[in-house]
Amino acid sequence: MPTGVKPLRPKAISSVSAGTAVALPPATFAEWLSGREPSHLSTNSGTPLVAFQTWRNFKEAFAPELIAQAFEETSKALGRRIANSIDPFGGSGTTALSSQFLDVRPTTIEVNPYLADLIEAKLTTYQVDELIEDYAKVLDNFSDVESDWFPGAADTFVEPGRAGRYIFSAKVAGRLAGLQRAILSLENVSHCRLFRVLLSSIAVDVSNVVISGKGRRYRRGWENRKISPANVLAMFDDAFVRAIYDIRRYANRSCLDYTLLRGDARELTPKAGAFDVTIFSPPYPNSFDYTDVYNVELWVGGYLTNRAENASLRNKTLRSHVQIKRSYETGTLASPTLDRVSGELETVRNDLWNRSIPDMVRAYFSDMQTIMSNLSEGLTTGGQAYMVVGDSRYHGVQIPVADILIELGEGLGFEKIGDEPFRSMRASPQQGGREELVESLITLRRS
Ligand SMILES: C[S@@+](CC[C@H](N)C(=O)[O-])C[C@H]1O[C@@H](n2cnc3c(N)ncnc32)[C@H](O)[C@@H]1O
Repeated sequence: MPTGVKPLRPKAISSVSAGTAVALPPATFAEWLSGREPSHLSTNSGTPLVAFQTWRNFKEAFAPELIAQAFEETSKALGRRIANSIDPFGGSGTTALSSQFLDVRPTTIEVNPYLADLIEAKLTTYQVDELIEDYAKVLDNFSDVESDWFPGAADTFVEPGRAGRYIFSAKVAGRLAGLQRAILSLENVSHCRLFRVLLSSIAVDVSNVVISGKGRRYRRGWENRKISPANVLAMFDDAFVRAIYDIRRYANRSCLDYTLLRGDARELTPKAGAFDVTIFSPPYPNSFDYTDVYNVELWVGGYLTNRAENASLRNKTLRSHVQIKRSYETGTLASPTLDRVSGELETVRNDLWNRSIPDMVRAYFSDMQTIMSNLSEGLTTGGQAYMVVGDSRYHGVQIPVADILIELGEGLGFEKIGDEPFRSMRASPQQGGREELVESLITLRRS
């Protein structure tokens, strides 16, 4: 275990068979995280950001230290070094990037194209000189766009907006759109991807809004906050300099290989592959909608160009929210706890802020069952699954997500190894700041 990493659960670690030699994490992983002491491995929030994480502070990420711990435990359980990992909910790429540092080949899936690009931009190997040349090309070639900045976006996106409110001033939008077009004209796909990510990632900072788990809101006094096109360029430049530093500094990660699957984990989670370990944190069934939360980035990066694409992306995300109307059909779900909770939700259906919530909750577990079933087939015997999950509550009905997933997992060839509420109840961003909702780390073993 790298220096500075607090053991999350010494009991579980000492209960696995001792005496097997396990390779310690390569030095660069410890260097990458040096000095950090995350108080809470379920969230990276509240711990200083390290290289690559500053490209976009992804508040819903877990801490990379969790990956080292899971690898160490799984290696001990298997009695050998682990070779590969899979994360069906990639997010900002914590599992995949940590895997590269720890010499384990990652596979990851992400449905949101901006986040998929964020992950791939981190995992890619670059020729730094060529990257700098292409960056200079973007700066030489861009010109501010005068109108029709982000075709297809809502009318609130750019000044004059609607009812006097807008996310970007016309000048800032003109600079962002100009840079986006110069970036999209680059031939080198990896360079284009990295610059798109960096541009998208500064978008909220140069906008009139802030985003949280509770949604998007205008900044206090935004009308008087002056952001100029020069500020946009300065921030983009700063983002590029930081990225180049990280890319150069950590070019020697032990594994430079990866597989990224872009799209819906319900369809793409492999049923084969002999993965040794899976570590992931799915969206929680709490109506936090990732398409909304990362909407500004999706439009600024050119990942969305019309409303139909926006709707299609929402449809491909896990059924963890009720922001769009869609089918809540489910397969058979063998969980007595879910049946009890569904019954309780049914009694309060008419008091809920959205009457589809009881159906969405069952659909959420049906989606999770599909993914866990594929993982059960794709994991090697004795391989382990680590899931960071969070409870929800609707009109006083508590949804014990961990208990339900364990029951479903047991019907899919998994054996429960651990189920630990993270001790600190400090609110996580995925829980929208509500302190009383528990997050748990579930560990299952493929029997
Ligand atoms: C809690 S975040 C994962 C955070 C990640 N563990 C990290 O450390 O960065 C959940 C992710 O699942 C993604 N997601 C939601 N529905 C999905 C689906 N059907 N297929 C693949 N990814 C999905 C979201 O876009 C989001 O990035």
